[in-house]
Amino acid sequence: MSEMENQHLYTNALIDGEWLSASSGKTFAVRNPANGSHLADVADCGLNEATLAVESANRAFPAWAATPAHERTRLLRTWQELLVVHADELAALLTAEMGKPLAEARGEILYGAAYLEWFAEEAKRIYGDIVPAPANDRRIVVIKQPVGVCAAITPWNFPNAMLTRKVAAALAAGCTMVAKPAEDTPLSALALAKLALDAGIPPGVFNVVPTAHPVEVGKVLTDHPLIKKITFTGSTQTGRILLQQAASTVKKVSMELGGNAPFIVCEDADLEAAANGLMASKYRNAGQTCICSNRVFVHEKKMATFSALIQLKVAALKVAPGDVAGADIGPLINEAAITKVERLVSESLTAGAKLDHGGQRHSAGSLFYEPTILSDVKPGMSVAQEEIFGPVTALIPYSTEDEVIAMANDTPYGLAAYLYTRDIGRAWRMGEALEYGMVGINEGAISNAAAPFGGVKQSGMGREGSRYGLDDYLEIKYMLMGGLSA
Ligand code: SIN
Repeated sequence: MSEMENQHLYTNALIDGEWLSASSGKTFAVRNPANGSHLADVADCGLNEATLAVESANRAFPAWAATPAHERTRLLRTWQELLVVHADELAALLTAEMGKPLAEARGEILYGAAYLEWFAEEAKRIYGDIVPAPANDRRIVVIKQPVGVCAAITPWNFPNAMLTRKVAAALAAGCTMVAKPAEDTPLSALALAKLALDAGIPPGVFNVVPTAHPVEVGKVLTDHPLIKKITFTGSTQTGRILLQQAASTVKKVSMELGGNAPFIVCEDADLEAAANGLMASKYRNAGQTCICSNRVFVHEKKMATFSALIQLKVAALKVAPGDVAGADIGPLINEAAITKVERLVSESLTAGAKLDHGGQRHSAGSLFYEPTILSDVKPGMSVAQEEIFGPVTALIPYSTEDEVIAMANDTPYGLAAYLYTRDIGRAWRMGEALEYGMVGINEGAISNAAAPFGGVKQSGMGREGSRYGLDDYLEIKYMLMGGLSA
């Protein structure tokens, strides 16, 4: 049953180009986090459907892998164009199930489409090499081939773009895919898959299996011998489990996991630019991105001015349901998310942090949290140790460059970091010293399809987007061509 009107609303699994309900007959409810309203009942797939999807992707693989690169480019390009044409309705669907403001949702659809466009182009550039051989009658030939059937497990915070970032690279490389979207947000993934079919991508090349049993379906995907690669975006904790499961069949893996991003404001920084950068990196998606600033280190001499600047900006944020005009901060995804934010704020206040702004649920609804600023935060407090995933800024003063680099790197995570300085030497020095996969220097918005997205340490492995993003979906084959002498 569905209570939402949207021309892109689909509620069954897409397997081999067909819409399938769960063989158990079960469904699960998808709700709008802004008000708890019921949006749709979606097929609650299990082992049967996951297995069918893997088999379907495996059947589709040889023909897709053999499809000329220029044809794969054309199909991915058509898919991208469909996303752009339908951006408004797709954004409305995304806001309804995920909560982010409509303008951000539209931005996400275009961001997602940009990955389809990027990898459509890259499909034509899967070059090999001819390497000098140790003898004249031989040639070392290196070619690249698709890894095979891939499984994608995608998160709720970017239900469209985190999937296109994976599927575009996989399909460009000649792989086929089974995707399991997050249970909070399956609708955007199903809408995306339907547009792939409309674009002419053959049945079975891209399959989507929604489920309220992520562990059961995830296990099929990690254990199935026909799956050659797993790509996952989500928490480090879940990533570790998937890595262990994928080890039994030695699958290739790409993991985009948690972060604890430092945002460093140096003594010489342009404070207005830094404050704007912080607003972009911290409050995007109500603080629910893996690359959101988590610990904001401000030089002690600039703390008072910087803190006053961001208080003004934070006070101007409009907290409201995503479909309300001008909304800046939507709801958090669910009760567990908001309870975690409440815990982190309360533990930090008890440990001696100071509340400068916000600090409680917002009257817009039960899952809305006030944009919050904490100062006098110490690196050991839980708000600085754990990924907040909510609209809370934690201000930490520092006095020297060495001290701030040591504090910034003192975490098992290494996804994104931000640095504001006008000193070119310091920018290079600190940029290189930060143990992170991505560093925004005088920039708070670093995501784009041309850039290699990914982390080091326990933030993951592999890169998505950019020319490097295809590598994770390709195997290298070496052929020694002998017998060339006359
Ligand atoms: C994420 O939160 O995992 C991704 C954010 C982005 O692509 O900008």
